[in-house]
Amino acid sequence: MKVLGLSELKPTILKIGGSVITDKGKELEVQMQVINRLAEEIREANVQNLIMVHGGGSFGHPLAQGYAIKEGFKEKAQRIGFSETHHVMTVLNGLFMDALIWRNVPAVSITPSSCIITKNGRIQCFEDAPLKMLLKMGFLPVLYGDAVLDTKLGFTILSGDQLVSVLATRFNAERIIVGVDVDGLYDADPKVEKTAKMLRHLTLENLKKLQSKLDKSTAYDVTGGMFGKITELLPAIELGIPVTIVNAAKPNYIYNALKGKKVKGTLMEKE
Ligand code: IPE
Repeated sequence: MKVLGLSELKPTILKIGGSVITDKGKELEVQMQVINRLAEEIREANVQNLIMVHGGGSFGHPLAQGYAIKEGFKEKAQRIGFSETHHVMTVLNGLFMDALIWRNVPAVSITPSSCIITKNGRIQCFEDAPLKMLLKMGFLPVLYGDAVLDTKLGFTILSGDQLVSVLATRFNAERIIVGVDVDGLYDADPKVEKTAKMLRHLTLENLKKLQSKLDKSTAYDVTGGMFGKITELLPAIELGIPVTIVNAAKPNYIYNALKGKKVKGTLMEKE
């Protein structure tokens, strides 16, 4: 068996947002039919050198918030909250792993809290040797947003988006596909402003302009959390890694994006 060098791999990084695979309104409510459909689409697309990251939705977020895990370790009572937050993420991850593995996808879970330590919320050390080896051997490594240890804060929350950006820049990714529960990026909140326009294509220059416009106006957060996503992904786009945002809640969007087919969404690239 030929084992490729890492420089030849140029992986695709796929992020599936937590709001797609859980019901954000109900704590610990999984959308199993969506996970099954996405696992099917990932199997069908059969992309070589794929790394997947998923979010927490109504599994990780309510617990993390309730115990103020992101803000760091301040009192002993938070310890059980850290354990619970990490644990529910492993449960959600297990459900996705089930769906992939029983469809014959050779997926292997990588637990972020066991190989990553952050400093003030930013990834400081990342033991990525197992991940690299899995990728070289043709496995699908799967990571997720997690409660992690932090050298300054004691512990914190590592978002799946930061993970995606670091994985993409470290491994010189070919592309990033981000699956969310809306059609793409809009110039205003489409739920509030009827005239909101979906942005199909954005260059780095456009993005920076949009960023400063959004910085000034705190009146809306484009499609809930989408703006934070862009800020996190900018370093990857700067390196020339294109990012496609598509609606993973709709059938076949992720499949088509993985296959490189034309799909409704937002493409962000350097030029
Ligand atoms: C959050 O991960 C993980 C925890 C809260 C433990 P993300 O920030 O990537 O999750 P989503 O996609 O926004 O739900």
